[in-house]
Amino acid sequence: MERWQWLKVVALIFLLSVSEGRELRIKHEDYSHIYNHTLAKILVEYASAVYMSDLTALFTWTCARCNDMTTGFEMIELIVDFQNCLQAFVGIAHDLNSIIIAFRGTQENSIQNWIQDLFWKQLDLNYPDTPDAMVHHGFYSAYHNTTVRPGIISAVQRTRELYGDILIMVTGHSMGGAMASFCALDLTVNYGIHNVQLMTFGQPRIGNVAFASYFHKHVPHAIRVTNGHDMVPHLPPYYYYFPEKTYHHFAREVWLHNIGLGSLVYMIEKVCDGSGEDPTCSRSVSGNSISDHLLYYGVKLQADTWGSCGIIMDNSIVKDNSIVRFRTDLAGNIVLSKDPAASSILRPTSQIGKGSSYF
Ligand SMILES: *[C@@H]1O[C@H](CO)[C@@H](O)[C@H](O)[C@H]1NC(C)=O
Ligand SMILES: *[C@@H]1O[C@H](CO)[C@@H](O)[C@H](O)[C@H]1NC(C)=O
Repeated sequence: MERWQWLKVVALIFLLSVSEGRELRIKHEDYSHIYNHTLAKILVEYASAVYMSDLTALFTWTCARCNDMTTGFEMIELIVDFQNCLQAFVGIAHDLNSIIIAFRGTQENSIQNWIQDLFWKQLDLNYPDTPDAMVHHGFYSAYHNTTVRPGIISAVQRTRELYGDILIMVTGHSMGGAMASFCALDLTVNYGIHNVQLMTFGQPRIGNVAFASYFHKHVPHAIRVTNGHDMVPHLPPYYYYFPEKTYHHFAREVWLHNIGLGSLVYMIEKVCDGSGEDPTCSRSVSGNSISDHLLYYGVKLQADTWGSCGIIMDNSIVKDNSIVRFRTDLAGNIVLSKDPAASSILRPTSQIGKGSSYF
């Protein structure tokens, strides 16, 4: 080994020996007002749970992924767009005094094929009422032109009638992150709701640079978490020599990556610059990993069953529970909803105003 390499090893060993936990955070600046690690670990669990296919267990929050840091979550609405293979939910996290909205990522047989297609996505839609801002039609429509949006909006409105102007946290993984982004922007711009925060995991780019700056202006509390060599945040491609014409991420990225040797591996969470395309974050490595796409903070972000948009549902939830409404349309799409007032009668009002922090 050359001398400078030895120096690096020595520096690393020193670094590892002074750090206590397995998660090492190097603080050059205080980013705690921008990025909250605890909140990220909570939201990634919601982004993971929304993949579950047993709708009864998901609605009643008894699924295998419906526990740990999300215990006590109260589902208000679960939307399954069978036709377009989409799934999302709205509910209340009483411990965070927040409304949580989560979107599922793609549930296709082959995530490889889905990722390959991302290379060719065109900027083919002008974002409404926003000069020069362009987005990808498919991502935009998945949120704006399906049963998902009306379901989300109505649940948010019903919940806000009861709980008031509480924080709304929107999350999702992969394509679910793209949908979450459009949702956060929709709530702010079209519904005038200002305390909206967004945190996505491994999302693709969704628009051009004009869209990215418009987005940042309206949704300033947005975090895009990227992980190691995850391919998806690299797509559709960004060409630094042609920035006006290509896709451009909005700010702000937080890049997770490991450093260390052998059994001493530590996760670094790097809070990136405000450009959206920080060359020292995930762009500093090649996006060549699918496994990095499917595991964030040690939490699995993929379907529990592969192959289809199959729905597993035990109808007893509808029969036994008079507070749950069940609607289905001609295309077979399903909305399960609960009146937020039905369960909140017993809740003390002292919870209101507690725990609203942002990242
Ligand atoms: C981070 O988020 C958690 C959960 O919302 C909260 O309890 C904690 O106070 C937050 N930390 C900061 C520094 O805001
Ligand atoms: C919305 O979806 C319908 C059918 O699902 C389609 O015919 C229509 O062109 C779509 N509109 C937009 C703006 O994408």
